[in-house]
Amino acid sequence: MSNLILALSDLEIVAQSISFFLAGYDTTSTALSSIMYTLATHPDAQMKLQHEIDTVLPNKAPATYEALGRMEYLDMVVNETLRLYPPTFRISRLSKKDAQINGVFILKNTSVTVPVFTLHHDPEHWTEPGNFLPERLSKENKDRINPYVYMPFGIGPRNCIGMRFALLNMKLAAVKILQNFGIHTCEETEVPLKLNNNILVSPKKPIVLKIIPRDRAINES
Ligand code: HEM
Repeated sequence: MSNLILALSDLEIVAQSISFFLAGYDTTSTALSSIMYTLATHPDAQMKLQHEIDTVLPNKAPATYEALGRMEYLDMVVNETLRLYPPTFRISRLSKKDAQINGVFILKNTSVTVPVFTLHHDPEHWTEPGNFLPERLSKENKDRINPYVYMPFGIGPRNCIGMRFALLNMKLAAVKILQNFGIHTCEETEVPLKLNNNILVSPKKPIVLKIIPRDRAINES
């Protein structure tokens, strides 16, 4: 029997918690803002999504894990928004050894950047790459997509550890909002969105939208 103790020290627990906050907070809130913006600028998609939510959860019933899993259009909307506006616009790796990939020689210890945003908008891989077309990421179509050109959560053994939690969190928030409100553009909404690419891909100016309770007619607002 080994006496090896695998518990984390207090310092390690604090360090892990801080990195989860740093990696998980802004990414999720930026993505959720992009989802709201996309739905406001695509009212047909918003109506279709509200219809799905109302069908799966009649009378504004609280969302459950099982119900979220049945919302296929919600999944498409979230995934297509993450293609158009991936919060992390690039990921990096350090090469562990000399390698030749597609005719490019990469020296050991070279920092290699994968341009996620560029790949998500590459016309060689996507038809109408600038357009919001949720159906391209439907259950049937998803399997045909090359995993190396769609990676909002990175790829491989060091991909985003919070991916499932983030998707669930965003879907839960989107469902709760759309059960109760309609999201609309207004005069101050910037269309198309101008993006920053600092650490995260985020809008240059704050996204301003009009939120209307669903039980109120739009011309009452
Ligand atoms: C929409 C939300 C999010 C997006 C788009 C996102 C995206 C990413 C990306 C692209 C990476 C790099 C993966 C790679 O290099 O292959 C990453 C890593 C990471 N993410 Fe997320 N993330 C999100 C939410 C979260 C949440 C909620 C958490 C924690 C609760 C989290 C924790 C982490 C951690 C700890 C890493 C580093 C993993 C490692 O190096 O092994 N992320 N994320």
